[in-house]
Amino acid sequence: MLTFAKKKTVAKIGDIDVGNFPLLLAPMEDVSDPPFRALCKEQGADVVYTEFISSEGLIRDAAKSVIKLDIYEKERPVGIQIFGANLDSMLRSVEIVEKTKPDIIDINFGCPVKKVVSKGAGAGILKDIDLMVSLTEAMVKHTNLPITVKTRLGWDHDSIKIVEVAERLQDVGCKAISIHGRTRAQMYKGNADWNPIAEVKNNPRMHIPVFGNGDVNTPERAVEMRDKFGLDGAMIGRASIGYPWFFREVKHFFETGEHLPPPTMQERIEVARRHLQMAIDWKGEKLGVFETRRHYTNYFKGIPDFKPFRTKMVTCDDPADVFATFDEVEQLFGDYQFENAL
Ligand SMILES: Cc1cc2nc3c(=O)[nH]c(=O)nc-3n(C[C@H](O)[C@H](O)[C@H](O)COP(=O)(O)O)c2cc1C
Repeated sequence: MLTFAKKKTVAKIGDIDVGNFPLLLAPMEDVSDPPFRALCKEQGADVVYTEFISSEGLIRDAAKSVIKLDIYEKERPVGIQIFGANLDSMLRSVEIVEKTKPDIIDINFGCPVKKVVSKGAGAGILKDIDLMVSLTEAMVKHTNLPITVKTRLGWDHDSIKIVEVAERLQDVGCKAISIHGRTRAQMYKGNADWNPIAEVKNNPRMHIPVFGNGDVNTPERAVEMRDKFGLDGAMIGRASIGYPWFFREVKHFFETGEHLPPPTMQERIEVARRHLQMAIDWKGEKLGVFETRRHYTNYFKGIPDFKPFRTKMVTCDDPADVFATFDEVEQLFGDYQFENAL
């Protein structure tokens, strides 16, 4: 295992200063929407990414894809992530994405799902590194916005060439790379291996930020990624779902070496209310109610005998009923003391 001295360098994505060891909210389908990104930003995320957006959908003006381009001013810097394998579609979608004025355009070269991979997109492109590099180069040349890449270690265990791949992407103008420490073959199984990511960082020719991703689920793990693996920042996915406070907890731990107490019940309810309201304002009542549901389990995790309330939150269709459930929970459990979640 490679070890690195603790260092303090400010990471830059193109001209954007993202601070010393930034925390990035990972792109997550149906999760990393504007309301959730805004909440993570409030809690300390330094850079946030949209979920992946289909280039083919964008160029057909498919409403489902276009709505994913919405961004709030307050969440900047924000990266819009797109995926595809067709050069023309990717370039045309860069033009569409540019109009919505994100700070960064990220290319998804890591999605492992069959319907994406079978078209040569997402992690599918890991089978054709030349195409991965030429697509990136063409996109870099087509925009003034910084292009970043998110990818995996390789297609499978026997074809890990991430050190060479990262260097080639850097050489064609990619401004930062986020690497999920699993192969496509692994999907989400096993543990993420950060050693190959450290090798990328340890390549003396690398000068763009190398962000680590996969299984950063405690502040200690984030410290490990920074100090033991020497990476430039941590991209955080699942640990933040229904728990945007993870970002501030990691930052507090960085600063003090101590765990911040978990958010109080009052704070959780206040955030749940705002989350729902932002989602309704953004997508309307029906979708707003529906898409916030996945977060409630974690917002209120650990409270004994909570099941009937959670069930109400995730089954009520009328926002008034969900808000009423929050009120009820506040009255009944307002004094509940959460144990350290992490
Ligand atoms: C629900 C869900 C949706 C995801 N959607 C995307 C996506 O749209 N784009 C992408 O690059 N990765 C996506 N990922 C992968 C994550 O960005 C991240 O690489 C992975 O979850 C590992 O990080 P973690 O252990 O911190 O969760 C998704 C992951 C999850 C759990």
